Amino acid sequence: MKKNIILIGFMGCGKSSVGELLHKAFAYTFIDTDQTIEKDSGTTIRDIFAQKGEAYFRELETKTIEKMAESTEHAVISTGGGLPLRECNAKILKEMGFVVYLRVKGETVLKRLEGDITRPLLQGDNVEEKVKSLMEYRDPIYEVSAHLVLDVDDKDFDSIIDEIKRNYEIMVSR
Ligand code: S3P
Repeated sequence: MKKNIILIGFMGCGKSSVGELLHKAFAYTFIDTDQTIEKDSGTTIRDIFAQKGEAYFRELETKTIEKMAESTEHAVISTGGGLPLRECNAKILKEMGFVVYLRVKGETVLKRLEGDITRPLLQGDNVEEKVKSLMEYRDPIYEVSAHLVLDVDDKDFDSIIDEIKRNYEIMVSR
């Protein structure tokens, strides 16, 4: 297995925070697919959705991950919540390294993202309904896309990092 750790999961599950901690724990590079897209396109995810639409953004995600897969090693990669939904993207992620699904409950997402204006999919009315239906659809996809599923709602960062470390070390030593 290639030496990368890839974090997937719903918006607000903690991919960026956990990613930053893993980056320090392993002295791996930290890469965030959303940040990469924003940097490469010189604009924000919010503006990409508003001006070009979601389908265009999904194309950018695929291009970004295809390019990353060519040369990335010793990296922690935090992915946008929708990135593993395309089967071709999920396949690339699994080939790139150890994929961890950080699973959270809808109520945790709602609490953490209250007032957030950066996620186009969770704007407007009925955010609770939006989270619920997106999550129902996505959870089984995240599950099959990952080597490890961690329920992280009530876990502190130390135990999340320990669990990922332990499982990752087993995987790379095989
Ligand atoms: C999305 C998640 C966002 C971002 C975009 C779409 C999604 O990233 O890529 O708003 O479809 O779940 P985070 O998961 O980092 O919030």
